[in-house]
Amino acid sequence: MRKKFKLAVLVSGQGSNLQALIDNIKLGKLKTRIEVVLSDNFKANAINIALENNIPAVSLERSGFSSRKEFEGKMLKILEGYTPDLIVLAGFMRVLSKNFIKTFPRKIINIHPALLPAFPGLDSQNQALEYGVKISGATVHFVDEGVDTGPIIIQKAVRVKDNDSRDSLAARILKLEHKILTEAIELIRKEKIIITGRQVKYKK
Ligand code: GRF
Repeated sequence: MRKKFKLAVLVSGQGSNLQALIDNIKLGKLKTRIEVVLSDNFKANAINIALENNIPAVSLERSGFSSRKEFEGKMLKILEGYTPDLIVLAGFMRVLSKNFIKTFPRKIINIHPALLPAFPGLDSQNQALEYGVKISGATVHFVDEGVDTGPIIIQKAVRVKDNDSRDSLAARILKLEHKILTEAIELIRKEKIIITGRQVKYKK
């Protein structure tokens, strides 16, 4: 039996990206297994989604830890127990330390609701709207020590409409996120990715 490509998924909120991963696994579009879901917030709806799908879920309330070091130390202990092939930040809102990232070199990816390097950080959908761009979108990238600065794996764009609100734009981008996160994980699972410096290229 071929070894399953194992995912650990880190979440902070709604969990729609986690739900999309679960749906795509069921549809056979994503040939992986989600070993564990970790949240930094016990109120995250994403935890309920994990439990409803019989996926082990741990919420580590950040406020319960005296430092980021202690908080990440606990996360690392849990993750090492599951030996994930890839860690997926799916709506995870925290910046991870250099030490955490070094523990899983090129094994952490993030989904961001903008066309990086434009609009990193928080509420990028509103940043895009306020700036007046005509095109925005979503990015999947490897996580490095910066904020939303790692090598880009996949991007997809949407048109920004004149009558868009923050929420209508966010909803359109979210649909893209749900698609490209699975596409990126499949490229990695199939070892189709070549990283040269900042550039990510795909093997034919
Ligand atoms: C998404 O736009 C994600 O990119 C951002 O938070 C939003 C909700 O994500 N970080 P999810 O529904 O919790 O997956």
